[in-house]
Amino acid sequence: MKKITIAIDGYSSCGKSTMAKDLAREIGYVYVDSGAMYRTVALYALDHNLIKDGKIDEEGLRKSMKDIEISFQFNAERGRPDTYLNGVRVEDRIRTLEVSNHVSPVAALGFVREEMVRQQQRMGQEGGIIMDGRDIGTTVFPNAELKIFVTASPEIRAQRRYDELTAKGEACDMKEILRNVEERDYIDTHREISPLRQADDALVLDNSHLTIDEQKEWLLRAYQHAIDN
Ligand code: CDP
Repeated sequence: MKKITIAIDGYSSCGKSTMAKDLAREIGYVYVDSGAMYRTVALYALDHNLIKDGKIDEEGLRKSMKDIEISFQFNAERGRPDTYLNGVRVEDRIRTLEVSNHVSPVAALGFVREEMVRQQQRMGQEGGIIMDGRDIGTTVFPNAELKIFVTASPEIRAQRRYDELTAKGEACDMKEILRNVEERDYIDTHREISPLRQADDALVLDNSHLTIDEQKEWLLRAYQHAIDN
């Protein structure tokens, strides 16, 4: 059977990665979370004092890009890949609210995007890949056979993020999470380079009122349709 490329884009915390990793497991594709890569760059910047009082030391970060090696290793227990920075597992550290609060300005920098897109395109060379993010169907894989644009209301997305962080035992405040979701939506859709937008040929999925199982079925049908055509 031919192996296609599947691009899933959408707003923050709308469940893209859950649907992408489930489909990947079901059809035996590789799943790549492109947001994890931008989060890892933001984590590196925070760890190396390249962000002070919310301001990014752009020259410092530009020079450091060659020292940031991002890789993924499949974690069978979680059923999805864990993210590594220079060989060290950073999967939990990149998901904290601190990283969420700094990632979008880092991801808006041209030299960061150029490097990440180059690595993402290399990972997808062979097809058989599902990648989620903000610019996958528009910039990374404009020729992807299946493109999906996921959306849900900000309140529902903030609630999902709150439940996720609480389940991990991280103390969090609903208002702060909603503010973060709305702020990232704004930066992601208004930045100059590869802003988040729906590709013209993307299928739209509003999953505000879908269960995980319903969303899974929807996606599987979209995949079947894409490979039959
Ligand atoms: O998981 P969540 O939806 O909160 O976000 P993510 O997918 O982990 O992405 C984190 C941030 O990275 C986003 O808010 C974007 O600013 C940036 N990002 C991007 O610019 N381009 C991508 N392809 C993926 C993420």
